[in-house]
Amino acid sequence: MSAVPAQPLPARRPMTVADLAAIMAIEAQAYSHPWSHGNFVDSLAAGHIAEVLEDDAAPIGYFVAMEGVEELHLLNLTVAPQHQRQGHGSALLAAVLGHARARRLATVWLEVRAGNALARALYARRGFAEVGLRRGYYPARRGREDAVLMRCDLAPPVVADAPLAQRRPAGEGRALD
Ligand SMILES: CC(C)(COP(=O)(O)OP(=O)(O)OC[C@H]1O[C@@H](n2cnc3c(N)ncnc32)[C@H](O)[C@@H]1OP(=O)(O)O)[C@@H](O)C(=O)NCCC(=O)NCCS
Repeated sequence: MSAVPAQPLPARRPMTVADLAAIMAIEAQAYSHPWSHGNFVDSLAAGHIAEVLEDDAAPIGYFVAMEGVEELHLLNLTVAPQHQRQGHGSALLAAVLGHARARRLATVWLEVRAGNALARALYARRGFAEVGLRRGYYPARRGREDAVLMRCDLAPPVVADAPLAQRRPAGEGRALD
């Protein structure tokens, strides 16, 4: 048996105002135009879904998502630069999709900078389709930058959730359809 203790995985938990100092430091490293402290305070006050990924008691990544009618809008997804490329971004995105499914929402939306090829590819590989362009949506170092609008359609509820009257009587029809 090994004497080396297993490394605990980073844990996900709800974001609180107490996290914001650490989060603002990550924002400043990760973005040319970071969210303000007030943006996060407003999101928390509005009851948006906001979680951090914590390693050694310090946030290393986070997301903020706003629930609407049958949809979730991902507003912010960030991993601290020194912790990127270790699967944390994918894990946070999976958590976002898990929240949407648990709430039986049909669609997850997001905007991403047109020039952020890495994030666009990450979202595309996780089931998002590029469905629109918002011209000049973001401030940029020079002028404005377009946003690509992306949408992920979630699977509808399984048949077992249908009202009893809509279910086929046992033995009728094919086993699989
Ligand atoms: C986008 C972001 C959240 C990804 O986080 P991450 O923890 O690095 O992501 P992962 O480690 O899960 O990697 C996701 C994928 O991107 C790839 N990737 C990550 N960094 C990469 C890099 N620098 N170059 C090439 N590929 C890279 C990974 O190989 C992985 O590929 P896969 O989908 O085939 O598995 C992170 O880069 C980030 O916070 N960027 C700055 C903020 C930002 O742009 N947020 C998104 C705004 S919409």
